[in-house]
This record gives sequence, structure tokens and C-alpha cells, in this order.
Amino acid sequence: MGSIEKVGVIGGGLMGSGITEVAARAGLDVIVIEISDDAAKAAAGRIEGSLRRAESRGKIEAGEVTAVLERIRFETDLQTLADRDLVVEAASEDETIKLELFRNLGRILTKDDAILASNTSSIPIVKLGAVSGRAHHVMGVHFFNPAPVMQLVELIPSLTTSTETLDRMRGWVTADLGKKPIDATDRAGFVVNSLLVPYLLSAIRMYEAGYASAEDIDRGMVLGCGHPMGPLALSDLIGLDTIKAIGESMYDEFKEPLYSPPPLLGRMVDAGLLGKKSGQGFYGYES
Ligand code: CAA
Repeated sequence: MGSIEKVGVIGGGLMGSGITEVAARAGLDVIVIEISDDAAKAAAGRIEGSLRRAESRGKIEAGEVTAVLERIRFETDLQTLADRDLVVEAASEDETIKLELFRNLGRILTKDDAILASNTSSIPIVKLGAVSGRAHHVMGVHFFNPAPVMQLVELIPSLTTSTETLDRMRGWVTADLGKKPIDATDRAGFVVNSLLVPYLLSAIRMYEAGYASAEDIDRGMVLGCGHPMGPLALSDLIGLDTIKAIGESMYDEFKEPLYSPPPLLGRMVDAGLLGKKSGQGFYGYES
């Protein structure tokens, strides 16, 4: 089994930049694909900001920030990923976009055993494998936000993923990245979002129905249940567009009303109120 040294990450958004930071901190060479130079600049700023925070809290050695940043390169052309051992796709949670990416990446990667992983929360891994033409080497590798801080990674093989691919990814996640994996089945939501998303949607429904203020709903769960943050602040952190997309995929798969996004969530997304990343969600954020 070849070692994983050269990594590609598709998308430098919240999750993509977090995964890039984690991989570069593990000493790996990372190419990030973004859609424009401006988007690449924003992603680079996010990664540097997070590294500076880690440095100020003593999580990485003083002076290591520059070395980590030097291991990261930004590109806009997918062809630059040809020599990668692993590509982690972290594009928007949109099935059409992901299918197109996997179709192209399947042709572009030149190493026979190169792995194509998706950070999707809910899109069937088996479909991504099928369009790639290299289904044995495709699986889900689901990180949690903020990726440099959260220890968990869900590993999701599909019906067509080989045991060798799963073993290599388990080794990468544990030995290289120092994360803790759990195994999940290729069903929308996997383990964590199947439990988390109905909870977040219930909090949004509660707020929409006027049961309590956003602050009191969140304080209830922080002070009453010991959660690090309340459900509405957490929804803002994840991104309201992402939660809506995950809820819709889970509803499509299981037809359970508890996964159906409430109207307020749809209206907020339509209005561009996406949470922390847009500066306004259930709460306001300074840029
Ligand atoms: N690198 C490394 N460590 C960092 C860091 C970085 N860039 N930034 C912060 N940290 C560390 C801090 O040093 C601190 O560590 P210690 O506890 O050892 O001191 C810890 O992370 C917490 O950092 P802060 O003190 O800055 O922040 P906080 O205490 O306010 O916590 C939080 C922030 C980690 C986000 C916390 O509120 C939390 O855990 N919230 C819940 C997040 C969550 O549930 N995420 C999952 C979302 S679901 C998802 O992502 C999946 C999906 O598909 C939707």
C-alpha cells in the first residue's frame, strides 16, 4: 500500500480550509483547488488566521506557521492534482457539482491506487464512486467543524469501496492526522448528522414558533446539558445553507418529517443569512 504524501483538497471553504490545515500540519504537501484567485485568497486568510490562533494557544510551535503555510499551494485547475495520492473533495453540498468533480477527477488522477474521498455529509458515496470510474478507490471521509479542533472523522465506505482503500484511509486519519475515526454506513447523514441535524432543525422550529428567544434556547442547552454551544449558535457555525442541504438529502432518503427543513431556515438561506460565514444568521458576527 502506497503511503499518502501528496494530498489535494477541492474547495477552500470552511471545511476545505480546515482539512487543508490539518493535512499540512501533519507534514503533507497539499494543493487546494478554488474557483478563483479571490476565493483562494480568502481560504489562505482563513487558514493563516486559524494557525495564528493555534500558535497563540500553544497548540503548535512558535515559528511553525510559516512552514505549514509553505506546504500549501492554491490552484484553480483540477489537472494540477494529477500526481496526488489522495484527493479530499469538500465542495458545496450539491450533488450535481460533486458528481461532475468525481467524473473529472477519476480521469485526472494518474496513480493506480490514488484515493478519491468526499467530505460530504449526506450525498450517496456509491454514486460518486460510480461516476468516477474507479469506485474501489472512492469513499467518504467526513470531518467536523472546526476541523483542526474536532477529533472525530467518520469513515464511510460504499458498497463498492475496497477493503484496502478503507484500511489506507483509517491509517491516514489515525496515524498521520491524529484523529479518531468511527465507521458509518453509506446512508444520508451517517452517524452524527442523523442525530445532530434533527436536533438543530427542532431548535429552529422552536425559535420560529416563538417558544423562546434564540439566546434562551442556546443558554438552555449550554447551561442545562453542558453542550459547548447552543443549537442556534452551532447552526450559524456550520452554515445555514449546509444544514438546509443536509436536511433535504436526509428527507429525500428517509421521508421522515423530522429531517425536513423548516420554512424559516429556507427564508434565511434565500436572504443570504448563512450564519457566521456571511456575518449574520441567528446572531450577528463581525467580519
Ligand atoms: N488549532 C488547534 N486548536 C485550536 C484552534 C486551532 N486553530 N483553535 C482553537 N483551538 C483549541 C483551543 O486551544 C482550545 O483548546 P483547549 O481546550 O485545550 O484549551 C479549544 O480548541 C477550544 O478553543 P477556544 O477556547 O478558542 O474556543 P471555545 O472554547 O469557544 O470553543 C469550539 C470553540 C471548539 C467551536 C466549541 O464551541 C465547540 O466544540 N463547539 C461545538 C462544535 C461542534 O459541534 N462541531 C460539529 C459541527 S457538525 C459538523 O461539522 C458536521 C456537519 O456535517 C455539519
